[in-house]
Amino acid sequence: MSRAIGIDLGTTYSAVSVLSETGQPQILLNQDGENLTPSVVFFQDFDGKDEPLVGIQAKNLAASSPEAVVQYVKRQMGNPNWKFDSPSDTVYTAEEISAIILKRLKEGAENALGDKVEDVVITVPAYFDDARRTATKHAGEIAGLNVLRVLNEPTAAALAYGISAEKNETVLVYDLGGGTFDVTLMKIKDGEFDVIATDGDRNLGGFDFDNALSMIIAEKMEEQGAEDIYTDEHFTALLREKSENTKRGLTTVEKTNVFLDYKGKSYKIPVTRVEFEEATKSLMNRTEELLDDVVEESGISWDEIDQVLLIGGSTRMPMVQRKLEEKIGKKIVYSINPDEAVAQGAAIQAALEIANKSESADVSETVRGLAEKLVVSDVTSQALGTLALSNGVKRNTIIIPKNSKVPNKHSEYFSTVVDNQQNVLVEVTQGDDEDPQFVTVIGESTIKLPGDWAAGTALKVTYHYDVDQTVFVEVHDSDNHLLGTFEVERQANLDKNAVEVASRKIKDLTID
Ligand SMILES: Nc1ncnc2c1ncn2[C@@H]1O[C@H](COP(=O)(O)OP(=O)(O)OP(=O)(O)O)[C@@H](O)[C@H]1O
Ligand SMILES: [Mg+2]
Repeated sequence: MSRAIGIDLGTTYSAVSVLSETGQPQILLNQDGENLTPSVVFFQDFDGKDEPLVGIQAKNLAASSPEAVVQYVKRQMGNPNWKFDSPSDTVYTAEEISAIILKRLKEGAENALGDKVEDVVITVPAYFDDARRTATKHAGEIAGLNVLRVLNEPTAAALAYGISAEKNETVLVYDLGGGTFDVTLMKIKDGEFDVIATDGDRNLGGFDFDNALSMIIAEKMEEQGAEDIYTDEHFTALLREKSENTKRGLTTVEKTNVFLDYKGKSYKIPVTRVEFEEATKSLMNRTEELLDDVVEESGISWDEIDQVLLIGGSTRMPMVQRKLEEKIGKKIVYSINPDEAVAQGAAIQAALEIANKSESADVSETVRGLAEKLVVSDVTSQALGTLALSNGVKRNTIIIPKNSKVPNKHSEYFSTVVDNQQNVLVEVTQGDDEDPQFVTVIGESTIKLPGDWAAGTALKVTYHYDVDQTVFVEVHDSDNHLLGTFEVERQANLDKNAVEVASRKIKDLTID
């Protein structure tokens, strides 16, 4: 029998969990006996062949061999221009690097369970767009996994929180991880997990706080006479590592010293929490803006929020809790493990997917009971629209607004511009702005028209948005006759063939 697991594929750390037969999500220890695996790949090269290392060993080698190490690859998911050239001169895409991490996690889970693992739910930041979601799904497939679903990280955390007791609450999930920030407001009632609003920044996380601290340290080193710090790749990598450790230290102590050797000289750099908080004020303000936006969009008032779930390692920074307490006006404590809840929620969802797939699925009575009780309903994190002429000016018309329930289907009417118009170009956009400059065209297709219409004849454009947040478009005439359909296939993603080729490439790799 194979087991379905949940994977939190983090920017800096990943975790794996499985739902026990008694309905408890358990974290599976990795090959090093740890519950978290650094999402870091170090490329060892043996006779021109790559043998990547994943996890703590790879992280420990980051400072000494930065050219052979890949970190923070999650930030590159869905970016087709990003490539890593390994020491053996093999080129890897972001999906392939993530697949290497996933393959290691899969093997670790198989060791821990003594069982095969194929079916998984992988989590993604709520603010990931469909290209990044698809890239994550592809990474799973390349790793030899069957990706049941990608699930939003804040929703996963809320599932892990809400499963343990009968809850009837309005919950704010504040997830500040290593690379991304998500804020989600949801209602939990009688097993229903209903997301009301979500927002985030996929480029805001602990990594940026590390960088801010690196800059303080580098500046102080320069005051003590150090030169050209950032031109030295090895030293920059070491500085990054020291900065992360120092940042963690400043969570518990008010001040500390950083010791560094650079170009034959030793430096002792004092840093304080106050300095660190001052230097990262703009990052904290950004999280606050997004938080305010979500609460405003949800139409829920601050005092209706019953519970704040702090998720992600970066919520340990004292300023995060302080700021939230100021906003909410009550004490905030960890009600769930901030490092493990996302993987646990993914494990719950994975078990539910299996149970819901068929009556005969091999699941315990308890899990079947949960599958009958729990309903998860999520929303879109970004608006989808189309470009159309309005009084001769091209503008973006929203078809599915942000924070719409998923799955969703919505139509808008447009009209032809000239007599006997032969075709209409449907450009699918992502983003909230009316100005085409500030939205991204994620796909397009030319739909043929009958060709004998007068200018101004109505057309109905319908967008379908499914649980994996992929987009399907239909165009009808005013009598509801179908004129054409297409699915948005993003340029940013690998095609089917490329996924198969990549699977073979990663399958042959020995990963330690
Ligand atoms: N005690 C601490 N004080 C401050 N920061 C901490 C502490 N412990 C961990 N962190 C930070 O938390 C981050 C890792 O958190 P987490 O594992 O939740 O992120 P992730 O899941 O890898 O990232 P993401 O969810 O953004 O993809 C790192 O930036 C780490 O430095
Ligand atoms: Mg995370």
